[in-house]
Amino acid sequence: MLIKMQGDGFNNLFSSEITSQTVYEKRRALIKLMATGVAGAALASWAARDAMAQVPRPGKLAALPGAKTSVAGATTLEKLTDYKDASTYNNFYEFGTDKSDPAKNAHTLKTTAWTVEVEGLVKKPARYTLEDLLKLSPMEERIYRLRCVEGWSMVIPWVGYSMSELIKKVEPLGSAKYVEFVSLADPKTMPFVGSRVLDWPYVEGLRLDEAMHPLALLGFGMYGEVLPNQSGAPVRMVVPWKYGFKSGKSIVKIRFTDRLPATAWNKAAAQEYGFYSNVNPEVDHPRWSQASERRIGEDGLFAKKRKTLMFNGYEAQVGQLYAGMDLKRNF
Ligand code: MTE
Repeated sequence: MLIKMQGDGFNNLFSSEITSQTVYEKRRALIKLMATGVAGAALASWAARDAMAQVPRPGKLAALPGAKTSVAGATTLEKLTDYKDASTYNNFYEFGTDKSDPAKNAHTLKTTAWTVEVEGLVKKPARYTLEDLLKLSPMEERIYRLRCVEGWSMVIPWVGYSMSELIKKVEPLGSAKYVEFVSLADPKTMPFVGSRVLDWPYVEGLRLDEAMHPLALLGFGMYGEVLPNQSGAPVRMVVPWKYGFKSGKSIVKIRFTDRLPATAWNKAAAQEYGFYSNVNPEVDHPRWSQASERRIGEDGLFAKKRKTLMFNGYEAQVGQLYAGMDLKRNF
């Protein structure tokens, strides 16, 4: 059944995707029980994790909850970045180059009647409506670290499902080696499309096996709600082991190819932004070190920088994708 939502965000959401109040209350009751010390320690840590994976909604946009994910490594117990920071400190160059620009300007983005064209080397090319995509697989909540190439990071509870679910549906041909993600480039609603900072549309890409990795998320929401426009509504990629720019926002096209995709940042400055762009503290950006990072929300004069982890801390999950590769050359 379709439910009409008010305000921004999607016009229609599906009732099956909304966690019932009873389930929510049961969880709260269990957590209360933990506090009284009635249940054992093992159960307590399980409940804490469960509570983490059911983040309170900011109450700004339409609800989009996700079940606790079954994907290993997709949830961390680190403190979440405040919604306010995550939704006001953004990179979305179509709406300006300052971190505060997307939150100010992205209200013009039209997320209704959204479609995503899947084309190229697949058996079943298709044009998906957003509603089709929302129904394609159950929604999961995943708390990912996201590390930006500029040296800051956030911890965000994303809502979506593995990109592999969509890939399996369209059946890539044996010749498909890469997947390209093309963002909307609409000069009427995106004031900086046409500016010379980047070659529009914003294009990003992954090797097919990277895109098939269960951690690569097709994201529709964050903090239990649909994505705010500035975060890449209504659908974006979230690839947590790579620098943030690999995660294209407001995607309208997914293209399967046999050629290394020409990506926006690689075209703009190939010596600075490689195709892989795996988070790697041992490979510096030509103009700055990548060994440490600032967690957004932890600033201040005495805030210590954090050490950046190989593959952003997801090495156990994704390291084997790069076995035998020289990661200094393939940066
Ligand atoms: N996608 C598009 N279409 N345009 C962009 O400018 N910026 C990228 C990425 N996806 C960008 C984009 C960069 S540099 C980063 S760090 C992340 O989005 C930022 O995501 P966030 O604003 O949700 O933190």
